Amino acid sequence: MKILIIGGGNMGLTYAQSFLRSHITNKSDMMILEKSPEKAAILAQKDIGTVFGRPEECIPKADLVILAVKPQDSPKLFEALRPNIDPQQVFLSIMAGVKIDTIGAALGAPKIIRAMPNLPAQIGMGMTAFTSSEAVTRIELVTVQNLLSTTGKSIYVENEASIDAATAISGSGPAYVWYFMNAMTSAARDMGFSQSESELLVSQTFKGAIDLYNKSSLSCEEWIDRVCSKGGTTEAAMNAYQLGDVHRKIVEGANAALNRAIELGKQ
Ligand SMILES: NC(=O)c1ccc[n+]([C@@H]2O[C@H](COP(=O)([O-])OP(=O)(O)OC[C@H]3O[C@@H](n4cnc5c(N)ncnc54)[C@H](OP(=O)(O)O)[C@@H]3O)[C@@H](O)[C@H]2O)c1
Repeated sequence: MKILIIGGGNMGLTYAQSFLRSHITNKSDMMILEKSPEKAAILAQKDIGTVFGRPEECIPKADLVILAVKPQDSPKLFEALRPNIDPQQVFLSIMAGVKIDTIGAALGAPKIIRAMPNLPAQIGMGMTAFTSSEAVTRIELVTVQNLLSTTGKSIYVENEASIDAATAISGSGPAYVWYFMNAMTSAARDMGFSQSESELLVSQTFKGAIDLYNKSSLSCEEWIDRVCSKGGTTEAAMNAYQLGDVHRKIVEGANAALNRAIELGKQ
């Protein structure tokens, strides 16, 4: 299967490297279309497939086309792609907020898959939610899921509303985790640890807690119950969080992200 990635930026490069690293495809089947000649030259040196500068040179050769440009660049891109498209080609878009119907209508192509990855995809620890138009076959979906899974984990969702929801949870989620980590790092600094000691204490605590959670069948609440002894230190922290309504504020933050994702999708 010939894969064409359009946009050789952060995500385009992440996908190309992940596919090759996992041996799911090889260099002779990988193509990248990048409009910036400077970036194209840098990509060509990376030896990750053939780099093109014009759509007509590569689109007709592709079975799967991955759209990895910024959403605001998509109208121009669609215009340039449309004359070269074969309706049997599958399009996988990772562009935030750009709807399947919009892509299908602009390209004149029925087979559209829309995915929302997140930043840890760069190290093979990403979380991707994806959905598709009806014209995409089961085999095509499985093929694309296998490709997406080279960057971490992936789930198929039934509709695009769930893509907006995944944007608010896993898409923006790494920043929520860093926000919490940052607050804990500040607390550690206030308690007298150096910056590097604070970062180590916090990052290893997060990693350990997540790995322990993943290796067990206990829920977060059950784990909290286990570490909260009556009158102990952890319970004191939990009581302070409860007083500050921290749980509700985190839920509100995720909902603000969801509302923004819905708003952006309408633009
Ligand atoms: N980064 C993330 O964690 C993340 C997570 C989820 C979804 N996404 C989505 O992934 C997409 C790509 O994000 P990114 O961070 O990889 O962006 P990026 O680094 O800006 O990469 C996009 C690349 O596409 C090029 N480009 C623009 N128009 C083009 C065209 N018509 N033909 C060929 N190349 C073109 C850009 O060139 P110029 O720089 O010259 O314009 C740039 O090199 C976005 O739609 C974003 O919403 C990203």
